[in-house]
Amino acid sequence: FRVPVAVNEPVKDYAPGSPERKAVSETYKEMYNSTIDVPLFIDGKDVKTGDTDTMSPPHDHKHILGTYHRAEKKNIDAAIATALEARKKWSKTPWEQRAAIFLRAAELIAGPYRARINAATMLAQSKTIYQAEIDAACELIDFLRFNVQFMTEIYNEQPASTSGAWNRLEYRPLEGFIYAITPFNFTAIAANLPASAALMGNVVVWKPSDSQVYSAKIILDIFKEAGVPDGVINMVMGDPVMITDTVLASPEFSGVHFTGSTHVFKDIWKKIGMNIHNYKTYPKIVGETGGKDFIVAHKTANPSQVATAIARGAFEFQGQKCSAASRCYISESIWNDVEEILVDQVNSFKMGSPEDMGNFITAVIHEGSFDKLAKYINQAKEDKNADIIVGGSYDKSKGYFIDPTVIVTKDPKYTTMQEELFGPVVTIYVFEDDKWEETLDLVDTTSEYALTGAVLSEDRYALETAVRMLENAAGNFYINDKPTGAVVGQQPFGGARSSGTNDKAGSKLNLLRWVSPRMVKETF
Ligand code: ALA
Repeated sequence: FRVPVAVNEPVKDYAPGSPERKAVSETYKEMYNSTIDVPLFIDGKDVKTGDTDTMSPPHDHKHILGTYHRAEKKNIDAAIATALEARKKWSKTPWEQRAAIFLRAAELIAGPYRARINAATMLAQSKTIYQAEIDAACELIDFLRFNVQFMTEIYNEQPASTSGAWNRLEYRPLEGFIYAITPFNFTAIAANLPASAALMGNVVVWKPSDSQVYSAKIILDIFKEAGVPDGVINMVMGDPVMITDTVLASPEFSGVHFTGSTHVFKDIWKKIGMNIHNYKTYPKIVGETGGKDFIVAHKTANPSQVATAIARGAFEFQGQKCSAASRCYISESIWNDVEEILVDQVNSFKMGSPEDMGNFITAVIHEGSFDKLAKYINQAKEDKNADIIVGGSYDKSKGYFIDPTVIVTKDPKYTTMQEELFGPVVTIYVFEDDKWEETLDLVDTTSEYALTGAVLSEDRYALETAVRMLENAAGNFYINDKPTGAVVGQQPFGGARSSGTNDKAGSKLNLLRWVSPRMVKETF
């Protein structure tokens, strides 16, 4: 089982005057000035229901990018039926062919589609070119390449045999179909959830986020061009409750691959439980959900490193990462220095449309998110337990812009220290230098989530104490770094508690969920 060695796709720098900058700018303009219509995609065919919704850039919400079609129940039933029909051939397709299809998709993104998928992600999900390049180009390419390598590593894991008897594990796809539900915030995740299951021989009904349909359409085009057969990945949009209820009512439902909010995931889990007697097999439930990710800095930490970890961890990608730093605990004696550097850094961030490549931060995804963030900012303005030291303004007249905002609180249990906000707002609690262990205990117990976290210190003993006391507080734990930026193949990603099932995207642990091994013993 030898395949091309997976290497991470190098991130292009889009320097002024570079050909990639020119290509993405032109593509962005061309896409901005035209409209598209995105039908459902079932059995390799476009299905137009006529019940449509519009798509707009979050940074320019009066502008229309096009429409997408919303499914009726009969379309979901058709997507399930067509997936099951396609399974007959796809599940028997040799692994080399499945691998070749997804490796080809990776190269299509790395080359001819790079500008298009980046421009789509900039336009409809409001990402800067640098954010889009890391997500929609590099991370997506990495998922596709590394998954092929992980697949062969799985297939290579075989039991011992004796002479006269051959023991072999066949890593079959699951019986039935997989339901992929994908988020707006990463084009790479949106593509990876259906693609990883399909690579392992499964068939998929895929529901992208309404806010990500625009780039989902390009992913579909790439998969089709790469050779994914009709019916293997079917895309449906529309009422999420109707779609989920229809999918979960099928006896052939065999797994959900989910990234999104905690409450939706818990609701799906509950519904699967209610339907359990109808299923042919126990469904696999794989979810990556919310986070309330921390940075904790000891008195020995380097203030400049701490400030940069907060600024980048909290505000890159507009804070719309499940991994984003959102509650920070800083030791008193370094706080003044951290504060000064942090405020300077945040004040230097330029905010605006992704079209201007000098911007560091753009709009949040939609009005619901904007209103929620504005509400928390207003509460902080009025609360005597909270001070806003930088940011605090917002404006939705043209786009959903929230200034990167730092709240400092005297209450370690202040609302914004506990609730997931999913935007460019971070809260800081300053603790007394000699309360390191009490603070670590607070970090561990203040939130229901356990996705990412970072500890900064130059004292090995303090670090070791944090590593031990925060053992269960994060699935991705960073020492002297920011808590974001996991790279496929290097830092497998995921967390436990209310953050998900911790099946580690970007590793073979995830792919193992999409197989149902058969043990064959043959005696000679
Ligand atoms: N995998 C992304 C990160 O680590 C979400 O920031």
